[in-house]
Amino acid sequence: MLLGTNGSGKSTLLKLLAKLLHPQSGSIQISPHTGFVFQNPDHQLVMPTVGADVAFGLVAEKLTYAQTRQRVAEALEAVNLLPLLRRPIYALSGGQKQRVAIAGAIARHCDVLLLDEPTALLDPDSQLDLVAQVQRLVKSRGLTALWVTHRLNELDYCDGAFLLEQGKVVDRGNPQRLKQRLMQVAV
Ligand SMILES: Nc1ncnc2c1ncn2[C@@H]1O[C@H](COP(=O)(O)OP(=O)(O)O)[C@@H](O)[C@H]1O
Ligand SMILES: [Mg+2]
Repeated sequence: MLLGTNGSGKSTLLKLLAKLLHPQSGSIQISPHTGFVFQNPDHQLVMPTVGADVAFGLVAEKLTYAQTRQRVAEALEAVNLLPLLRRPIYALSGGQKQRVAIAGAIARHCDVLLLDEPTALLDPDSQLDLVAQVQRLVKSRGLTALWVTHRLNELDYCDGAFLLEQGKVVDRGNPQRLKQRLMQVAV
């Protein structure tokens, strides 16, 4: 989990890792299969239905129809959305939309998920559902997830945390220790 005040460089770091930006110096070593999840899923989901949106991410892979169907079904199953395969995107909740975005990354066989404030627009229940879902995917599929948030209770769901200030990592390590540190700052 990646923490830090506004403007500390969290989004820039994720964009560098996703190769949406290129570093002016230094180098980055990361799996080529990264998936990006934005704060606002309406900026990410482009097709009219759940299944079509997940399939859309696979067009570059030149799969057969049957292979595409299989990959879409597997990915939706992984985020517990298979029953909503044919549901129009407009009829989903914010949390369900974020899970569709994650399914898109899983369908493309991403092994790294980069999530930039994925819970910022969610109510508290959907927030914890989403982070618990990400935690399950990390455990069951061996994914690496790096997510940005301001909500300190999400520290309970991560294995490690980094605190950024002005583009530099100023603290890292045990999530509960960072939580204590940041709660004291907030008070
Ligand atoms: N493409 C860019 N070129 C130059 N500066 C940028 C660019 N994107 C963001 N910045 C600046 O980099 C700093 C970090 O921004 P950002 O990574 O968005 O912070 P955060 O996500 O932690 O709020 C800010 O000062 C921002 O204005
Ligand atoms: Mg940001």
